[in-house]
Amino acid sequence: MEVERVQEIANFSKETIPEEFIRTTYEQPALTTVQGTVLEVPVIDLSDPDEEKVVRAIVDASSNWGMFQVVNHGIPHETVRKLKEVGKAFFELPPHEKEAYAKSPGSQSIEGYGTKLQREVEGKKAWVDHLFHKIWPPSEINYQFWPKNPPSYRKNNEEYAKHMHGVVDKLFRCLSLGLGLEGNEMKEAMGGDNMVYLLKINYYPQCPRPDLALGVPAHTDMSAITILVPNDVQGLQACKDDHWYDVEYIPNALIVHIGDQVEIVSNGKYKSVLHRAKVNKEKTRISWPVFVEPPSDLEVGPHPKLVNEANPPKFKSKKYSQYCFCKLNKTPQ
Ligand code: OGA
Ligand code: NI
Repeated sequence: MEVERVQEIANFSKETIPEEFIRTTYEQPALTTVQGTVLEVPVIDLSDPDEEKVVRAIVDASSNWGMFQVVNHGIPHETVRKLKEVGKAFFELPPHEKEAYAKSPGSQSIEGYGTKLQREVEGKKAWVDHLFHKIWPPSEINYQFWPKNPPSYRKNNEEYAKHMHGVVDKLFRCLSLGLGLEGNEMKEAMGGDNMVYLLKINYYPQCPRPDLALGVPAHTDMSAITILVPNDVQGLQACKDDHWYDVEYIPNALIVHIGDQVEIVSNGKYKSVLHRAKVNKEKTRISWPVFVEPPSDLEVGPHPKLVNEANPPKFKSKKYSQYCFCKLNKTPQ
């Protein structure tokens, strides 16, 4: 059988990498990253009692960058540490134990252990393996995709999901107020308490040619928002005004991405961020994004209060499942 998992390819690639991982010069990180810049993704203190100030900072970051980091966010550091510990332990299991959670080739669902998300232009491959499973709401969870080993995997993931609600609610409230809407209206437009949290673990093995490969090529997330925790290996990059910037690793911060659905509901005021991930020569990088998504059958479009004759809708309204189908199959929205 063809070796498919990047984790195994990395075991025998000590100096070079297979040709299909080598990016074109338009994408190679060594050629396309702004070096030594002072520009940085904003860092926002969510515990600041001055809510108007927090709203202003989030509006500013969401309109100009589509990405920001939050500190003092209320999720206990120990909860995040335990989430990371069990995710890392899963990927360090022998291959056959991980393969028990593999996505079946014909499956429509995104959940499970896997390597390739979608075919890329020119058949290029990304230097990453992943595991996807939903963590909220309980009615949406498919435990067959949750590792049984390590044994505390389930408890630690459930605890993280439970603590996420506070941050998610606060972010949607600020995004909503920043558009002149009532505090709850943005969240309601995304399905309210029926929003789905989809966890992904990205496992980027060490790579002998981080100058030529990418862990994740440039994309915007389909979600409403994405809340990501990385391990301590820097690698995430954000695109601003056509330039790529490294996103600094800040211990205990959460990285928030504005996704396509928030851009749509805001009728373009907030921008879903174009981002990508680099890999590292000496270290394995791991990240845990949670895609906070509308329920699949919910129709999402520009908020009615934000459109009028002077501001016509910039996006079509459609079911979230339909949006994802078009994006994954690269057909027009
Ligand atoms: C993703 C992603 C970035 C990272 O998985 O959608 O953008 O830092 N990951 O791993
Ligand atoms: Ni992403």
